[in-house]
Amino acid sequence: MKTANIQFHDLHATRDEFIDDVIQGLTQRPASIPPKYFYDAKGSRFFDAITELPEYYQTRTEIDILKRYAPDIAKQVGTGSLLVEPGGGSCAKVHILLEGLQPRAYVPMDISHDHLRIAAEELALAYPWLEIHAACTDYTKEMALPPTVPHGTHVAFFPGSSIGNFNPDDAINFLQSVAELLGSGGYLLIGVDLKKDRSILEAAYDDAAGVTAQFNLNLLERINRELKADFDLSRWEHKALYNESLGRIEMHLVSQLEQEVHINQKKFIFNQGETIHTENSYKYAVDEFINLAKKADFHSVRYWVDENHLFSVHLFRVA
Ligand code: AVI
Repeated sequence: MKTANIQFHDLHATRDEFIDDVIQGLTQRPASIPPKYFYDAKGSRFFDAITELPEYYQTRTEIDILKRYAPDIAKQVGTGSLLVEPGGGSCAKVHILLEGLQPRAYVPMDISHDHLRIAAEELALAYPWLEIHAACTDYTKEMALPPTVPHGTHVAFFPGSSIGNFNPDDAINFLQSVAELLGSGGYLLIGVDLKKDRSILEAAYDDAAGVTAQFNLNLLERINRELKADFDLSRWEHKALYNESLGRIEMHLVSQLEQEVHINQKKFIFNQGETIHTENSYKYAVDEFINLAKKADFHSVRYWVDENHLFSVHLFRVA
């Protein structure tokens, strides 16, 4: 019988932070809610469904790039590393790298507790030789490794263009904290969505089957469920648009009429057409991203793009 070599570390954010972030975000105008709250168990399942959509080219394109160039990545990085994946709640892509990299240990970090636990346990059963330390944590706030991880060259794996969900200044700050965690000589393998035609981008965030709309609206359902709020979901509509001058897709929830919402004994009024801004997804040309990473002390080792120039995977090293 296979045995799972896994330790689970619960370093999760509290419910109070969720209330504070939601109340603060909805008090501002324009109103906003941080996108990290999309990922409760239901939201994580919607996101997994998004990654399979025909319009959402990112996931399959990045997987193709990783599969194709995994031997080059392994040659550069070497074996026996400590492989860290901030946001690696579904452990979905790391298996592409494991055979080549043969890391000493793998540390997926994610805010979504159950999603992380299930995925890490499945991975541990599939790779019994791999030591796994799953860390339930909000990596946007806390980048510390669990205390019991073994030594090895630190390699951060940050696929899926999740870096695009930070605004550029926050992306630099985040990459700086990754560079600190990795230490000098550490590597960062990161997936970054490329700038492209508006029609491709807007379809990817407003799919015909309406899965992204459900993902977006689930945020309100989660707030109702966990914070005892009274959002009426039928009064809100999903909207995605490419803001070309800022180089980002914006997702919003649009109020369909003037309405009141109550959360934790507080009242919020929304006019018809007013939006709650729920996510930005920045897109970068290759050079733009290399310049951004340089500001966080990373120098470019190599990068790979697919033949249709949809997506890029960069390998950086801490200077
Ligand atoms: C997780 N992140 C990179 C996704 C993105 O494309 O920005 C989240 C997402 N939002 C809507 N669809 C996918």
